[in-house]
Amino acid sequence: MILVTGGAGFIGSNFVLDWLAQSDEPVINLDKLTYAGNLENLASLQGDSRHIFVQGDINDRALVESLLAQHTPRAIVHFAAESHVDRSIHGPEDFVITNVNGTFHLLEAARGYWSALSPAEKDAFRFLHVSTDEVYGSLGPNDPAFTETTPYAPNSPYSASKAASDHLVRAYHHTYGMPTLTTNCSNNYGPYQFPEKLIPLMIHNALTGKPLPIYGDGMNVRDWLYVSDHCSGIREVLGKGKLGETYNIGGWNEKPNLEIVHTLCDLLDELQPRADKQSYRSQITYVTDRPGHDRRYAIDARKIERELGWRPAETFDTGIRKTVQWYLQHGEWVEHIVNGSYRQWVEKQYRGLGTQD
Ligand code: NAD
Ligand code: DAU
Repeated sequence: MILVTGGAGFIGSNFVLDWLAQSDEPVINLDKLTYAGNLENLASLQGDSRHIFVQGDINDRALVESLLAQHTPRAIVHFAAESHVDRSIHGPEDFVITNVNGTFHLLEAARGYWSALSPAEKDAFRFLHVSTDEVYGSLGPNDPAFTETTPYAPNSPYSASKAASDHLVRAYHHTYGMPTLTTNCSNNYGPYQFPEKLIPLMIHNALTGKPLPIYGDGMNVRDWLYVSDHCSGIREVLGKGKLGETYNIGGWNEKPNLEIVHTLCDLLDELQPRADKQSYRSQITYVTDRPGHDRRYAIDARKIERELGWRPAETFDTGIRKTVQWYLQHGEWVEHIVNGSYRQWVEKQYRGLGTQD
């Protein structure tokens, strides 16, 4: 059994679905169900006894301690976080509460549990912390990509809170010997991404005839990774990663935002053309830039390839086409978010079926 936090969010739910598609090892999924948590992502696991969902907060140490004592997981995979940079600019407090305090409480509960395990169980236990490339700050156009030794220089309240959580995880390994692993990943895309993030937002706005808002000049660069590749990278690190180490995970796929939006428009022009036969590109609108907007991120993912043999399976061309097709086929999933009805999903459809709260 493994304990996953934040498994109703974008990456966490993809991870849980992939995990249970590949193994019968049960997952206990602890998620607070903030606005970003959506149990519709896990609808295919209804009635599956390998998935135990618990609605709760990682800051609730008594709850986490009781889950650890009851289910005795061999690992914790920690996704739960406030994850959206724009929201962190408007309201940083939640980011400190969940990303910093929440990780601290989770680490403390894990430390108490791990300390009391038998020597063999202690050796086998893992605490894997899922983090971001944003902790390394912003690159110039010719700077080398981020490696695991690039100094931390977070620029937004989000990335600062993630950096703080990374430091706590590092300290728990060095001070208490806890068997921790940290992954720092680049921008993910794929199914079940909340439509506040660039790619799903642009697809939704395009299809509903709204402007496609490009921040600044549209030339900020991100390194895009298909979400199932991130999940496979995490599984590799969990299985074979060296204790106390960090691993960068990236897609070798740097692109400016404008190019991403052009690609999305072109795919939509092909797969679901506008009634008036105009290109979706005509909806592109330049808007005021994000304050403190990092110019460029790029991940050097050679360590995870060299040491663990991981490389992404998808190219950007295959991943982005799959993603656009998924959103076209799952219009209801997006609609339930936009109209708010996804919040009632747990009440209507899910309660009592493999859930515990
Ligand atoms: P998300 O916002 O889609 O999901 C976060 C999940 O955490 C939600 O289900 C939410 O309900 C849950 N949550 C929030 N606060 C909680 C709390 N206090 N207790 C329990 N659950 C709580 O995020 P995501 O995009 O899936 O990101 C997952 C992790 O991966 C985060 O740690 C993020 O920093 C990291 N990450 C994300 C990306 C990306 O491109 N999305 C890239 C690199 C790293
Ligand atoms: O790099 C990893 C990070 O990627 C993760 O740690 C974060 O959790 C995740 O949200 C993501 O952060 P970004 O800020 O890079 O993602 P976002 O989708 O918000 O924005 C991507 C780029 O697109 C960024 O340069 C801002 C720009 N953008 C975004 C939105 C929502 C726009 O131009 N217009 C928009 O409407």
